[in-house]
Amino acid sequence: MSTSYIDEAAGSDATGTGSQDAPYQSLGYALFTHGDSVKYLFRKDATAAYDEPTQSSLKKAKKTADGLEKKKKKAEELAAKEAKDKAEQKEKKEKLLEESKKIVLEEDQSLPKATRAKVSKLADLRGQRVRVFGWVHRRRDQGGIIFVVLRDGTGYLQTILSGRVAQTYEALTLTLESTIEVIGTLHPVPEGKTAPGGHELSVDYWRVIGSAPGAEDAFTNRLNEKSDPSIQADLRHLVIRGENASGVLRLRSYLLNAFREAYASENILEVNPPCLVQTQVEGGATLFKLDYYGQPAFLTQSSQLYLETCLPSLGDVFCVQESFRAENSHTRRHLSEYTHLEAELAFIDFNDLMSHIEEIICKTVDILLANPITAGLIKSLNPSFQTPTRPFTRLSYVEAITWLNEHQIQHPEEDSSGNPIKDEQTNQINMVDHKVGDDIAEAAERQMTDIIGKPVFLYGFPAELKAFYMKKMDDKEGEGEKNVRYTESCDLLMPNVGEIVGGSMRISDEEELLAAYKKEGIDPSPYYWYTDQRKYGTTEHGGYGLGVERFLAWLANRYTVRECALYPRWPGRATP
Ligand code: 4AD
Repeated sequence: MSTSYIDEAAGSDATGTGSQDAPYQSLGYALFTHGDSVKYLFRKDATAAYDEPTQSSLKKAKKTADGLEKKKKKAEELAAKEAKDKAEQKEKKEKLLEESKKIVLEEDQSLPKATRAKVSKLADLRGQRVRVFGWVHRRRDQGGIIFVVLRDGTGYLQTILSGRVAQTYEALTLTLESTIEVIGTLHPVPEGKTAPGGHELSVDYWRVIGSAPGAEDAFTNRLNEKSDPSIQADLRHLVIRGENASGVLRLRSYLLNAFREAYASENILEVNPPCLVQTQVEGGATLFKLDYYGQPAFLTQSSQLYLETCLPSLGDVFCVQESFRAENSHTRRHLSEYTHLEAELAFIDFNDLMSHIEEIICKTVDILLANPITAGLIKSLNPSFQTPTRPFTRLSYVEAITWLNEHQIQHPEEDSSGNPIKDEQTNQINMVDHKVGDDIAEAAERQMTDIIGKPVFLYGFPAELKAFYMKKMDDKEGEGEKNVRYTESCDLLMPNVGEIVGGSMRISDEEELLAAYKKEGIDPSPYYWYTDQRKYGTTEHGGYGLGVERFLAWLANRYTVRECALYPRWPGRATP
């Protein structure tokens, strides 16, 4: 007969096996486990020797063992009942499914003819029979009634399937994201209840057009809120079906319309410059190069140079064009391809330029807020949105440097190759005050805009920090330090995003432009057409570029511009 050990102090009923190395803790549990088949040896703790249990402790332990046995039986019975119930339910469901196949819906031709409509157009059709197509956005079952929220891109519609309509095989197996056609009568929602649009459709006929998979491959198994960002990026085509993502894209569409309306109100024409170009605008480092029939070419960084050529032809112009930047920036506000809204105006001065930018932005926001659809979208995406107040604050570059130092906003100290310098002892990056001539980096700029909390123009950047084409300020206007030449340039900064607009007056003098090419090491020959603008009737002129995704990130309070592009591109990402 084998022996089972019990050590009341060091043993364990949960993990013990009854061996001398792994004794049980209680005699009751040991008895429950082994019954009379083994010999028991017991000790209170390690100071005592193992001994046979006394009769009275055996009696007590027997009671415990009986109790445990009862408990075990009960649990087994419960499990068996649950399994039986489950099997019955399954059988019932299968039977119901089998039965449901016999129910075939047919449209009742005696009912009034249904009017086909998009969800957004239903308000005028209340009380009537309507026909709507869409995707199953949500589904909820309640006492034999199926509530389906249908999505058709123009809005969401609550539909109610009840009675026979809810008993078909298609109804019982209807999955999210399936496409369906529904026909029924549109009623205002009962008092105290809510539904999108304030109405719901009592369906009298419906059919599946394309069913989406359930189980393993179900939509919600492929993608949900907890999905990893890289999975979300791979599945962007599914992400955009979501309420927030589609809301942002919908707002984007209205935003572009509003910009166009604002430009039209100022008689500024839209033009469509090329994407394939052979000149740079914003420095060679961020050019995407390509082979163009054996010649070097680039994807455009900015359409500015082309817009400038339109001034003598069409007058003031704007464009909405993709711009491309091959910069290895993985920040919240950088894309490799972005939608660039650019405009160019002739016979203006620097002050006119900033006033115009302010005017276009405020007009655009006013247009969006005047439309109940877009006002609603902004409210739901960005409940605390505040209309910018005019005039926008204007802060010169030199004032901004002082402001940053007053607010103890520092920047990493850099060596001559631009690498941050670390303290040898602490291994921490050295932070230093800003000085005139320093670039105001993204981090400092963001802190600044977040503290100021409203749109602010930074203007008059040193020429060294800016593009070759920018007009210099008159010497007498150059503020502060000697030897620094400032430009008639401006960046518009918005809270939460930072720079959304970059603009400037342009060099209007041919000689000055030729000198600027030289300084930058640019061969002027491919720029002959740009230089010609200064030759054949030059004028003071200026313009700007606005990052549409950045503007939208500000408007819709999105964390990153990646949420504001349909299929965002960033270093390494060009899929889907
Ligand atoms: O300041 P940037 O580089 O200016 C120009 O390209 C001028 N040639 C425009 C002009 O004067 N017509 O870019 C203008 C704006 C920035 O303020 C920013 O909003 C956006 O374009 N932008 C980007 N947006 C997303 N990702 C990037 N990598 C961006 N680079 C610039």
